Amino acid sequence: MNVADLTHSGLKQWILDFAELTTPEEIVIADGSAAQYDELVAQQIAGGYCVPLNPEKRPGSIAYNSDPSDVARVENRTYIAAQNKEAAGPTNNWIDPVVLKETMTGLYRGCMKGRTLYVIPFSMGPVGSPIAKIGVELTDSAYVVINMMIMTRVGAKVLEVLGTDGEYVPCYHSVGKPLAGGESDNGQWPCAPIEQKYISHFPETREIWSYGSGYGGNALLGKKCLALRIASVLAHDEGWLAEHMLILKITSPEGKSKFVAGAFPSACGKTNLAMLVPTIPGWKVETVGDDIAWMKYGSDGQLYAINPEAGFFGVAPGTSNDSNYNAMVSASKNSIFTNCALTEDNDVWWEGIGYDAPGKLIDWHGNEWVQDKGNKEQKPAAHPNARFTAPAAQCPSIASEWEDPKGVPISAILFGGRRAHTVPLVHQSYDWNHGVFLGSIVGSEITAAALDLKVGTIRRDPFAMLPFCGYNMGDYFQHWINVGKAATDESKLPKIFYVNWFRKTEDGKWLWPGFGENSRVLKWVFEACDGTAKSVDTPIGIMPTADAIDLPEGVSEEDMRELLSVDVDGWLREVEDVRTNHYPKFGDHLPKELSSFLDQLEAKLKAA
Ligand code: GDP
Ligand code: PGA
Ligand code: MN
Repeated sequence: MNVADLTHSGLKQWILDFAELTTPEEIVIADGSAAQYDELVAQQIAGGYCVPLNPEKRPGSIAYNSDPSDVARVENRTYIAAQNKEAAGPTNNWIDPVVLKETMTGLYRGCMKGRTLYVIPFSMGPVGSPIAKIGVELTDSAYVVINMMIMTRVGAKVLEVLGTDGEYVPCYHSVGKPLAGGESDNGQWPCAPIEQKYISHFPETREIWSYGSGYGGNALLGKKCLALRIASVLAHDEGWLAEHMLILKITSPEGKSKFVAGAFPSACGKTNLAMLVPTIPGWKVETVGDDIAWMKYGSDGQLYAINPEAGFFGVAPGTSNDSNYNAMVSASKNSIFTNCALTEDNDVWWEGIGYDAPGKLIDWHGNEWVQDKGNKEQKPAAHPNARFTAPAAQCPSIASEWEDPKGVPISAILFGGRRAHTVPLVHQSYDWNHGVFLGSIVGSEITAAALDLKVGTIRRDPFAMLPFCGYNMGDYFQHWINVGKAATDESKLPKIFYVNWFRKTEDGKWLWPGFGENSRVLKWVFEACDGTAKSVDTPIGIMPTADAIDLPEGVSEEDMRELLSVDVDGWLREVEDVRTNHYPKFGDHLPKELSSFLDQLEAKLKAA
């Protein structure tokens, strides 16, 4: 397929204009075929950018090491360039769109010299589904093309749906490293220095301009940029929800199923929960999505969710057959690994894979590495944010409904984060608006999923959307309240919960075993949706009674009491922090309902 063959009215000229600016050697259209995928992979291997993995251990798979500066999303180089600073809100970086476009046009000028410009037509959501959105990404990174081929639906079918005048979200991407005549990358991961990286969103014109990074969330523009930042703006304008949420299906021993969505910040357990293997007999959990949910009301008044993606871009470290068997199988073939370590027989290895490093490894920097378990200071062999890209269809727990264009009806929504103290294992909101309050105050310890933030410190990450909301977060809170108001039957609204799998003891051990044992909490959530859960009212919300959740192995009754107690002093400190540091940021944009819930919470805690 050639650019000359494109029949869409604006697409061809748009591509040619960008090519004129960026001056690539050639233009290639991603047609989504297996042959093209294989050809690109072969070229990448020949260029020394990646290594093929052992076909007996991991067929059809390759491993990349990125530049050490390009290992995660760059939140402080991510911009919401609304025409008006206030529309971007207090939590987003802002540059005037005219100024930003001028700067970036300067960077794009000649930036694809010596490279190929790939055109990636992609669909977020099943191709042709009424909820799906089409994007076209122009990129000079073959890594981006093959990752997008796994993560989204790419190619000729998308162009067909686009027709001659269909709408698409235009996405520009360049690694920002032009090659001089005869120069080659020599197999090095191309990217630009940090101060030249820009991950920019123009919400009014629904455009994405990315420059300088080849890493996942910065470069695979269908994911965080389109399906969250731009989609959140569309959702706000059109009355639906675009959320940073996993979607799972849970089935009871009686054969009754419910769908649950859950928002946790990056590297806080979405993929693991979505693929959980229950430890409680008779219960079954299946996967619909592990990162993003788009939710709309169906004609029956229920909120329905689709997973707009087609693959998983999961955190590798900590993933093992014990912790996440389904992810291990998903990534057992036809997968792309980034910043993992390499074994002598060309397989990947990472910290927490479930077995010791076999012999001498090549670490993610490309250096020899031998495990020294006595040495607590040893640098990890895989980067803490090392990733696997795997097709969702390979997941053993994938639910039969996962590609249903009408989505799945959501019964419960979970909010959560990583909190060593204060926040209990689970509590439920009194109603929708109280649930919006819980979502708005979520705090979490910072993880390695974003660069240049201090790992381990707590920050407020409302709805796990802090880095992903494409507009003023105060208006986003109001939008959630409005969506609740728009329900035709309030009893059909999902119940809202706040969970925390990450409580620690004073000596730093996990108080809750997590992973498959989280099924015990899901069971209580399931029962709460049916009104049969054993629960008590507390100052912070509805909680399980002491005997409502069966104890997992290794958790004592005393541990469970701690996991399910209300830490009054800790919560009063939360209230204080939200009141002085969090809510004031939003000024007039903060819905009155939320400050009123904060006052009520404080009063209840003081009376307790
Ligand atoms: P995501 O980025 O939100 O999808 O997070 P992941 O599911 O990939 O998990 C990120 C990290 O948290 C991994 O290292 C997991 O092993 C770890 N993790 C996930 N769930 C749990 C849990 O229930 N308990 C504990 N202690 N760690 C977890
Ligand atoms: P995640 O983000 O940690 O939420 O999976 C993916 C990314 O960094 O692109
Ligand atoms: Mn994930």
